[in-house]
Order: sequence, then C-alpha cells, then structure tokens
Amino acid sequence: MENQFILLSTPADGVGVIQLNRPTVLNALNLQTMTEIVAALEQYDADPTIRCIVIHGNEKAFAAGADIKEMSGADTVEMMKRDQFAKWEKIRTTKKPIIAAVSGFALGGGCELTMLCDMIVASETAKFGQPEINIGVMPGAGGTQRLTRAVGKALAMEIALTGRMITAKEAYDSGLVNRVVPVSIYFEEALALAKEVASKAPLAVMLVKESILKAFSTTLEAGLEFERKNFYMLFSTQDQKEGMEAFVDKRKPNWKGQ
Ligand code: CAA
Repeated sequence: MENQFILLSTPADGVGVIQLNRPTVLNALNLQTMTEIVAALEQYDADPTIRCIVIHGNEKAFAAGADIKEMSGADTVEMMKRDQFAKWEKIRTTKKPIIAAVSGFALGGGCELTMLCDMIVASETAKFGQPEINIGVMPGAGGTQRLTRAVGKALAMEIALTGRMITAKEAYDSGLVNRVVPVSIYFEEALALAKEVASKAPLAVMLVKESILKAFSTTLEAGLEFERKNFYMLFSTQDQKEGMEAFVDKRKPNWKGQ
C-alpha cells in the first residue's frame, strides 16, 4: 500500500529511514501516520538487509504531537475504542535499534515518539516538550513514564506541569539525547551513527537492545539473569565464532547475521 504521510528510503548500507511527511501541520501524528510508521517498522524488522532504523522529520519539526484536530471532538469511549496509543506499543517491540534524528519541535506525542526510539541525535534547534497541559490533557503515549526515567523526576514534572519546551542543550545536559549538532548535519550525524550500529553483528545488536530495554521493566536480579542468558545464547551463533576468530586473526569480521 502507498504511504500517504511518511517517506521510506535506504540511503546507506543496512539503514532504513522513515521520514515523517506532513510538513503543513508540523508532522502532527494522526492515526494514519502512526499506522504507516508501525507498518514501516515491521517491514524493516523483517528485512535482513536492514540493521538499524532512523526516523526523522524536517528542519522545522520532528513532530508537534498527536493530531489535536483529530482528537478534539472525541469522548472517552471513542478514545478507548480507538486505543490509538496501543499502536505505539508496537514501536517499543521493534527488534532493531531506532535512532530519532530531531530538528525543531518534538512535542507531546512527537517527544514521546523520540523516547520510544533507542537513541536521539538532536540539532541545535531541537525543542522537546510535553505541552498537553496547555490543551487540558496530559501525555498519553509514555511521556510521564519515559521522560521521568530519562531526565529524572524534577525536570519531568516541570516539563509536563508547565508545558515548557526544553532546548537541545538542556535535553543533552539532562540525558535525554545522545548528541547535539548543527542543524545542517543533524540527519547525516544520525545516519553515520546508524551506519556504525548497522556494521556490527546483527543478532548481538538486537540482543543488546532487548537487554537494555529490559532494565526499565524488571528488577536488577532478573535483568542480570536475562542479560547473562542472552550472552550465552550468542555462543550458538556463527557471528560469535566469526567475531572472535577475526579478532585472533587480526582481520575484519564478516557478519552473516546467523
Ligand atoms: N495537531 C494538529 N495540528 C497541528 C499540531 C498538532 N499537534 N501542531 C501544529 N499543528 C498545525 C497548526 O494547527 C497549523 O495548522 P494551520 O496552518 O492549518 O493552522 C500548522 O500546524 C502550523 O502550526 P502553527 O501555526 O501553530 O505554528 P507555530 O510555529 O506558530 O507554532 C507550535 C508551533 C508551538 C508547535 C504550535 O503549533 C503548537 O503549540 N502545536 C501543538 C503542540 C501540542 O500541543 N502538542 C501536543 C498534542 S497532544 C499529544 O501529543 C498527546 C499525546 O500524548 C500523544
């Protein structure tokens, strides 16, 4: 099916890109856009030639949130039936790492989408916020949980209770983003990071992601056990043999993803 609101491309070896493409409404995330994003992630997850994914918008906006116009007339029953944020959970279960390349506004659901990604590369002009309080609601796609885990209680409270946008520098200082670069190179920087991840052993990459995410949903003891089992599991892969033999032979490994 043809995508209406996103563009897909594979500009570098092993990297699948999703560009949000509703520029006239600052990439507001309506139901159709979310459906397309989830389908694209499933497609990339199933494609063995893709090893890392980048999601970006444009210089002015990553995404200014869920589509307010689409939600404004809805009542509780309608919102529960729509259950639009259930779809967002599928983003969380994507196996391959996802990097958000953010310039301009990343607000509300836009900010929540960046936090569903595994790393964030921000341009100096990026602004992150949870402004739902200004329109009489609150974050609904993970903002109160993931922002708090990322930046701590005090700043998360301030962001969600006042609706204040934080700058890219504040986002970096508080641990929300990986790096901040000039707007002219933010996408290339994200692509370079994705290429680096894509050059590593694919099964190990997926298990690293899975294990780190586990840290957010379990106890330390259970998480350590989970990590240990994933580590042992990699010893049944060809890539483990190849990686260690290549080290001993002093050559570059040739990953098979097997
Ligand atoms: N939904 C629908 N349309 C949106 C939108 C959104 N979230 N954000 C911006 N737009 C539309 C505007 O309505 C406008 O459309 P028209 O030209 O047809 O009027 C267009 O995008 C450009 O926006 P502005 O003229 O407002 O641009 P600006 O540069 O003056 O302001 C802004 C930019 C500060 C980001 C402002 O647009 C804004 O405050 N947007 C809403 C941000 C917001 O509240 N996001 C949270 C949404 S709720 C949510 O996300 C819930 C959740 O947890 C998932």
